[in-house]
Amino acid sequence: MRTILWATLSANGNYARNAGPEHPPRQEALSDFLDQVKAAGNFIVGRRTFESFQAGGENPFGDIDIVVLTKSVKGIPGVKVVASPQEALAHLQAKGHTTALLAGGADLHNTFLQQGLVDEMICPITPVLEGKGYNILLNQDHYQYKDIQLLDFKSLGGGVVRLHYAIGHE
Ligand SMILES: NC(=O)c1ccc[n+]([C@@H]2O[C@H](COP(=O)([O-])OP(=O)(O)OC[C@H]3O[C@@H](n4cnc5c(N)ncnc54)[C@H](OP(=O)(O)O)[C@@H]3O)[C@@H](O)[C@H]2O)c1
Repeated sequence: MRTILWATLSANGNYARNAGPEHPPRQEALSDFLDQVKAAGNFIVGRRTFESFQAGGENPFGDIDIVVLTKSVKGIPGVKVVASPQEALAHLQAKGHTTALLAGGADLHNTFLQQGLVDEMICPITPVLEGKGYNILLNQDHYQYKDIQLLDFKSLGGGVVRLHYAIGHE
């Protein structure tokens, strides 16, 4: 199973919060996210980000396979609830998917990264500055990646540039 971590980053290299009136998502980045979701046919999302999607009211995802990672919630109508990254990937594999899209948030992304479960990263860089808050972090005691290769870069308009990396595993 190929895993793609998708995350919007700020111009100063932090995680873009993408929520609320003070940190609204950029339309260009949102469109890119929907394109990646369509291409993968699924996404894996942390419980907190999923709740923010639900709070938005609309469901722009159609019949995409959505997997919510949580230890605190047992079942959510219309989506698959799992308690570990491995369970999420096994579920999508059993459904015939060959790519899994890791939609965030930071906690979910870092969980997959730190377990060596990320093959590619797609990062729209948005023209905003973010302060302290969320980051994409590796546990340096367990550094298990090498050979980061830039596969592609593209302007998405509105000052947003998308970087696409392959991540080699040790
Ligand atoms: N920049 C971007 O591209 C982007 C993308 C998505 C979201 N966001 C932003 O990120 C923020 C939310 O991120 P967040 O880090 O607070 O939350 P999150 O990653 O969306 O969700 C965290 C929750 O996921 C569950 N989880 C994480 N790792 C787990 C594991 N190994 N096993 C079982 N469950 C696990 C836990 O749920 P339980 O507590 O229920 O156990 C945890 O509390 C929001 O501001 C959102 O707008 C940004």
